[in-house]
Formats: sequence, structure tokens, C-alpha cells
Amino acid sequence: MSLSREDRFKELGLWPVWHRREAKTGPASPVAEVDNELAQLDLDELREAVRTCTRCELHQTRKQAVFGIGDPDADWLFVGEAPGADEDRLGEPFVGQAGKLLDAMLAAIGLQRGRNVYIANVLKSRPPGNRDPKPEEVAACLPYLERQIDLIRPKLIVALGRFAAQSLLLTDTPISRLRGKLHEYHGVPLIVTYHPAYLLRTPADKARAWEDLLLAAATLRGLQNADAA
Ligand code: URA
Repeated sequence: MSLSREDRFKELGLWPVWHRREAKTGPASPVAEVDNELAQLDLDELREAVRTCTRCELHQTRKQAVFGIGDPDADWLFVGEAPGADEDRLGEPFVGQAGKLLDAMLAAIGLQRGRNVYIANVLKSRPPGNRDPKPEEVAACLPYLERQIDLIRPKLIVALGRFAAQSLLLTDTPISRLRGKLHEYHGVPLIVTYHPAYLLRTPADKARAWEDLLLAAATLRGLQNADAA
């Protein structure tokens, strides 16, 4: 007996996601309410807005803003924290050592940068000396990511590390309690895993990150099967 789409979502534990998505009539994120100007922009216009952004003091020290990269119709969206020195220089997210590990993580679940994958950060400008983002910087920059998510409409978001997870889920719950389970961001399933830079420092946690990636891959497979049913 084949299950209905609704039952598949229930079976996958995604009932709240299904419910909100089907019930949704407005935009996927609150951008429209908080930032009317960004809500009108397409991806190219948004990139230009980010390039010239002066909403926080980081524009004074960055070499360039780092918008994000990948397939604009991607099912997968990976979200990191902020550009580092390499990203600031080259204008692309995750191109340094952490980026090499991210590429290996993608490959482990059969993915490749740019192919059905989009990569972005919470902050589009590098915090000097790679210090932690300040709350006012996150508040200034998050609407750009929210609009990116609205436009890309990924099927699944993977939040890489504490800042991405807490910023998207609007929580201060520690990453140890956020990872390993399914969350949602405005109707889009979201999985939290460790940031690749943390994994470079703490290789013992790579096994946990692997579990998170398997959960992410199984979740997306389940959604695709439900869509095909
Ligand atoms: N770390 C991040 O969070 N993002 C990058 O783009 C690079 C390193």
C-alpha cells in the first residue's frame, strides 16, 4: 500500500514542516516584513546590494563582500559563519583549509560544490582577525541570507557550526543539543552539524559530523521520495 504524501511526512517526523509549507501563503521568511527593500530583489540585485553594503562596520575592513556561490536552484544549502582571510581575498565562501574539509564532507555524501549545492555564510564580510561575529553584525547581515534562502528555496539547509545554527533557529541552545536532530527554518528542514574549522581542530568529532550528514542525506531522500509519490 502506498503512503500518501502527508503520511510520508508524518512517518519522517516532518509533519510540522509539511503542515506549515502547505499552509503557507506568504514568503518563506520574515524578510518581507522586516526588510521590504531586500524582499524585492532578485539574486543578482541582492549580490550587488551585498557588494556595496555598509550596514555594519565590517565594510571598513573587508577587501570584498562574499555573497555565496553555487547552483541558484540547489536542493542543498550549506550555511557557514563568516568569510575568513582566504574568502575575503578571493570573494568565494569556504576556499581555505575549512573549505577543503567542507568539499570532502560534500563528497562523502555524493555532492559537489556548485552541483545542486549552494554555499553561503551568515556574515558576508570578514570580521577582522577572524573574531566572532558581533550580535549587531549578525542582525545587520541576516536579512541578506534570509532573502537568499527565499530566492534559492532549498529543500534542505545544513547549518555549519554554532553561529549559523543559532542565527537561523533564533536560539542560544548549544550546538551539542542542536545537532543530531531535524529542525526547520520557515518550512525548510534544517540540520545542524559542526563547522569544518572546528572539525579540523577536533577530529574526534568527525564521526558525529558524519552521522549528521547521513541524517541530512536521508532527510532529503525522504522528501524527494515523498515528492515523487
Ligand atoms: N568559515 C566560514 O564559516 N565561512 C567561510 O566562508 C570560510 C570559513
